[in-house]
Amino acid sequence: MTTQKNKTAHPLSRSSGDNHAPNQMWGGRFAEGPAEAMERINASIDFDRRLYAQDIAASQAHCKMLIAQGIVPAQDGTAILGGLDTILREIEAGGFPFRVEYEDIHMNVEARLRELIGEAAGRLHTARSRNDQAVTDFRLWVRDAVDALDGQLADLQSALIDQAEAHAASVMPGFTHLQAAQPVTLGHHLLAYVEMFGRDRGRLADGRARMNECPLGAAALAGTSFPIDRAATAKALGFARPTANSMDSVSDRDFAMEFLATGAILAVHLSRLAEELVIWCSAGFGYVRLSDAFSTGSSIMPQKRNPDAAELVRGKAGRVIGALNTVLVMMKGLPMSYGKDMQEDKEPVFDAAETLSICLGAAAGMIRDMTPDPTAMRAATAVGFLTATDLADWLVRVLGMPFREAHHATGAIVARAEQRGCDLAELPLTEMQAVEPRITGAVFEVLSVDNSVQSRTSLGGTAPTRVLEAAAAARGRFL
Ligand code: ARG
Repeated sequence: MTTQKNKTAHPLSRSSGDNHAPNQMWGGRFAEGPAEAMERINASIDFDRRLYAQDIAASQAHCKMLIAQGIVPAQDGTAILGGLDTILREIEAGGFPFRVEYEDIHMNVEARLRELIGEAAGRLHTARSRNDQAVTDFRLWVRDAVDALDGQLADLQSALIDQAEAHAASVMPGFTHLQAAQPVTLGHHLLAYVEMFGRDRGRLADGRARMNECPLGAAALAGTSFPIDRAATAKALGFARPTANSMDSVSDRDFAMEFLATGAILAVHLSRLAEELVIWCSAGFGYVRLSDAFSTGSSIMPQKRNPDAAELVRGKAGRVIGALNTVLVMMKGLPMSYGKDMQEDKEPVFDAAETLSICLGAAAGMIRDMTPDPTAMRAATAVGFLTATDLADWLVRVLGMPFREAHHATGAIVARAEQRGCDLAELPLTEMQAVEPRITGAVFEVLSVDNSVQSRTSLGGTAPTRVLEAAAAARGRFL
C-alpha cells in the first residue's frame, strides 16, 4: 500500500484524510482502500453533485418500476422512495454530507440511503449500473440546460425585436469588410441577430429531440436478466422512448457533443453581437450608448465608459469552444462501451452551459438597456459613398445601361466626389454629366440615404416597411 499523506498545505492539495477501508459499494474483493492520488483522480463528486436532482428522480423512477415489476418487494421499495425524498431535502437544505470516498453523486446518494433505511437500500441498484445511471442523469441535466438556454435565447430575441421595431427607420452604414457599403437601418441589422439566435434555438431543439431517449436499464453494457420495463422508466422521466441498444446507451455522448457544438456556435454568435456593441459604443462610432448598468469605469481615466460585459461575452466564447474540443478529444478513439474517460464529459458541459447562460443574460440586458443615437448613425452615412450602388442602379433603370457599364461610370463619379471631398448627394450635376452626359437632376432622388433604404423593398431587405413586417413576423415565429 503506497498511500502518501501530503503533510504540506499546498494550494493544490485536497486530501480527504485517511481512507484505508475498501469501498463499501464494491469492496468485496478488495483488501485495501484507494491511494490518496487514486481517490483524487477518480472522484467526481466535487462536480457531479450538480446532478443530484436528476439522480434522485431517475432512482425514484427506477425504484417504482422495480416495485411494479415485482423485482423489489413493495415494502423495501417504499422505504427506498421515502429515503430518496429525505436525501433530496437534505441536499437542497445544504446539509448533505457529500463524501469524496464515495466517489460520485450516485454512490453518495446510495450510501446515505443505506444510513437512512438500512439494508433495503441495497435493492435499489438491482438491474442497473452506474454506467446507465450516470448517462441517464446527465441526459436529464443537459435536457434541462437546453430548455433553460432556449428560454434565455427567446428573451434575447425579444429584446432585439423591441429595439428593431423602435429603430426600423434609423439609418446607419451597413458594412462589408468593415468598410461602409450601403445604408441600412439599425432595425434591420438587429433582426439579422434574431435570425442567428433563431437557428441556435433550432439546433438546440434538434439536439433535444435526439437526446430525449432513456438509457436507463442498459445496465453496465449488456442489458439485464431482470424483467424490467424500460418504457415505464423512460415515460416517467419524460423521455420519448428508451434507447435501442444497451452498448450504445452507456457509451454514447453524442448528446453532450451536440449540445456543446450548438453551444459553441451560439457563443460565436454572441461574440459577434458583443463585438458590434464594442465597436458601436466606441468614440469613433458612437452609434449606441450602453447603460451604466452594463458599463464600467476606469480606475485611472475618469472619462472612460468601458463595455466590459460585451468584451467578456466576446471573450467567453473561447471557453465554450474549448469545452467542445475537450469532449470531442476525450471521446475520440474510445472503444465500446463505457470508459472512465467519459467521466470527463461533465465539467466542460457544466461550464459551457453556465457560461452561455451568463452571456445570454448580459447580452439581453445590454440590448434592452442600450440607447442608440440615430443622429450619430445618420452622420456616419454621409461618408463612404454609401449610395453608389443606388446611382449605378439608376443608370441601369433609367438610362438602360448594362450593370457592368453603370458600375464603371459610377466608379468614375465616386472618384470625382472623392477629389472634391464631398458625398455623392452633394456632387454638382455637371460633374456627373462629365462622366455620363445623359444623367439628369432626377438622379438626386436616389442619392439620399433615406430613399436608398426605402427602395430596398425586396423580401428580406432593409426598407423600414419591410423591417417592421419582419419584426412582426419574428415575434410570431420565435416568441
Ligand atoms: N462517475 C462516473 C461517471 O460519471 C459514474 C460511472 C462509473 N462507472 C463505473 N463503472 N466505474 O462516469
